[in-house]
Amino acid sequence: MFENFKVMKITNLLSCTSLLAAISLSAPVEYSSNATISSYVEYNSDIPGWARPTFPELYQTCNSTKRRILQSFIEDSLEVSAYAKDRLLNYGAEDVFFQRWFGNGSIITVLGTLDHLVEASKAGFVFRCDDIDGLCLKNPTTYPGYHRQTADKETVICDLFFQSKKPLVNICYEGAIKDVGPKHYAGVDILHRYLHISSMNMNGFIGEFVEEFDDLAEFASGNSTFAVRNVDSYLYYMADVYSSSVVPGGCL
Ligand SMILES: *[C@@H]1O[C@H](CO)[C@@H](O)[C@H](O)[C@H]1NC(C)=O
Ligand SMILES: *[C@@H]1O[C@H](CO)[C@@H](O)[C@H](O)[C@H]1NC(C)=O
Ligand SMILES: *[C@@H]1O[C@H](CO)[C@@H](O)[C@H](O)[C@H]1NC(C)=O
Ligand SMILES: *[C@@H]1O[C@H](CO)[C@@H](O)[C@H](O)[C@H]1NC(C)=O
Repeated sequence: MFENFKVMKITNLLSCTSLLAAISLSAPVEYSSNATISSYVEYNSDIPGWARPTFPELYQTCNSTKRRILQSFIEDSLEVSAYAKDRLLNYGAEDVFFQRWFGNGSIITVLGTLDHLVEASKAGFVFRCDDIDGLCLKNPTTYPGYHRQTADKETVICDLFFQSKKPLVNICYEGAIKDVGPKHYAGVDILHRYLHISSMNMNGFIGEFVEEFDDLAEFASGNSTFAVRNVDSYLYYMADVYSSSVVPGGCL
């Protein structure tokens, strides 16, 4: 009971602040008429949970529709990570959610990784929508995007991303998180894509060690040192905390 009550309180608090943020975030992105120039994601600085979030550039090959969608999905990434940060700060390492995904791992590592992911410099990071290496075309039903092997800071966003990824507001409508996977939600997927970039994964400190839902709980209990370094443990943690905060009982 007590647990539920506290979750409800956080939910109410965050839904108020998110609403405020949504209003203040609606400032239009400035586009340059010079087609060779990328556009910048622009946000008001008072996003709940994050004082100074940083953003990739949206390259001009993302047309204005795609940029609007990306801007909205990047806002989702701030929201889902802010719920996670809030949960970590208020419930600590004894929390059932923390234990589920990170076991006895260091909460300091998890907090630091999230902070770094959202607020560390993303200078030079580019999201581009032209299929520069042809991998969208080669993998039309399986590649929503890709990290460029030849340009560490560049991420290609394929058409499939826009067709298949869902906004965070759809959480639980899409089925259980374990069935659709946390990356089904664009905001979570964007955080995953940042983690392919070496300055974000700290040259491999954070990596994709274990990815399958069925293996993650065992990884948390048996290898918590690596669970706090494992990309999918973060993605599931965030989706789990978020869904349980906004939908009674969540939908893990
Ligand atoms: C557009 O940007 C490019 C690259 O910065 C620059 O060389 C060019 O002069 C600009 N063109 C116009 C019309 O502003
Ligand atoms: C951007 O591209 C998508 C598909 O690639 C298309 O559906 C959309 O209409 C385009 N938007 C603009 C403004 O051209
Ligand atoms: C923990 O996981 C890492 C990465 O998969 C692996 O290299 C290491 O051997 C594992 N440690 C234990 C104790 O299982
Ligand atoms: C976590 O640490 C506590 C206390 O050190 C210990 O009792 C418990 O067995 C550990 N749990 C796991 C899953 O490692």
